[in-house]
Amino acid sequence: MPITRVFNKEQREAVSKMINRLDSSFFFYDLDGLNHHLSDLSSIMTDDIKLWYACKANPLSAILKIFRNNGFGIDVASKGEIEQVLRSGIRPENILSTGPSKSRKYLRELLEENIQIVVCESLNQVYWLNKIAGEMKMKPKVLLRVQMEWEEGTSVLGGNQITPFGEDASTWLKLDHAQTENLDIRGLHVFQWGNILDIKRLEKIWHKIAAQTHELAEKLGISTEILDLGGGIGIPYTDSEKDVNFKDILDILHSVKAQYGWGKIWMELGRYAVGPYGHYMTQVIDRKNVRGKELLILDGGVNHIARPALTGQPFPVNLFRESDAAPRDFQIHGPLCTALDNLGTLQLPEDTEPGDWLCFHQSGAYGFTEGMPFFLCHNLPAEVIMYEGNVMIPRNPKKAEDWLC
Ligand SMILES: Cc1ncc(COP(=O)(O)O)c(C=O)c1O
Repeated sequence: MPITRVFNKEQREAVSKMINRLDSSFFFYDLDGLNHHLSDLSSIMTDDIKLWYACKANPLSAILKIFRNNGFGIDVASKGEIEQVLRSGIRPENILSTGPSKSRKYLRELLEENIQIVVCESLNQVYWLNKIAGEMKMKPKVLLRVQMEWEEGTSVLGGNQITPFGEDASTWLKLDHAQTENLDIRGLHVFQWGNILDIKRLEKIWHKIAAQTHELAEKLGISTEILDLGGGIGIPYTDSEKDVNFKDILDILHSVKAQYGWGKIWMELGRYAVGPYGHYMTQVIDRKNVRGKELLILDGGVNHIARPALTGQPFPVNLFRESDAAPRDFQIHGPLCTALDNLGTLQLPEDTEPGDWLCFHQSGAYGFTEGMPFFLCHNLPAEVIMYEGNVMIPRNPKKAEDWLC
């Protein structure tokens, strides 16, 4: 799907109303669009290809429920995510636990909550989980996360950098099987490349992973039932980028599975699943020309959407009102007293002025919870959903007095 830059009539009216009502920056989520997308994705899921949702992308309960209703299990990576997911009616057997920072206490809490599918990211995690599982007379299903070597390149997930995710193959080969008797080890997990739109690149990455991990699993003497490839499917952030076709993804997953002898392929999607269905709305506070550059200063910036500062990649933007003025470049900044609060240099109509509202698209994933909301004590953004024609406000904007003490 290309970037949805235009709201339909109903959505426009809803957003207009929210602008007047909230008078503060907010995220607007199109849950009908999300529901439609997920029902397409779930229709291609088979026993062999299973999709989960990595809820770090957006843990709003209304969003979790749409995933649940479309048959997705949920991947969690913290106690907070576990609680949110359980509160949203997801059953423990439909929860997968990933993340490099699992303490003994956390592993015990997983089992106490009856969450029994765990991606272990270190030898320590395996041995701790084994001991706890023994004490609790349980046998959780386990995948071992592997950090592979690549020729070159970096990514938010590390690429070829050394990161905390998983153990390298040589370390896994030291696994002491005597300390795994209470674990049901089903396969391996590898995820090092994020936001990739180039289908050929995804194909190359997944083939390399499937080949090397299958060899490793055989050397380790563990089951080759499940290979979990994590996420990594990109979405366009500029109009020149093209969306991937999920049918192509599926063909690759099937061929990877068959070629290397893996029983099942799992993925836990974040960005591709939910990114296009969120829009961040914020107001222009000021406009000025500084040393020849036209600048806009907004009500919200990296305090609400940090991704542009973290990755250097802006969210695509539009002026909310209609304008026939010619487009021009603006260097766009949020309200924080740091030059890092830069949302990019993007085109907007020449007549954009203080009081106008801007809409940053593709911000349904890695938006609200990836911000740095407390710095400078501006309002926290509200979250608004539209579903089956109804508009709801699960979160009002919060003022500094709501959390400062
Ligand atoms: C273990 C794991 N799986 C899946 C994802 C989702 O990745 P993406 O948003 O690229 O689909 C993440 C994101 O960081 C992750 O850490």
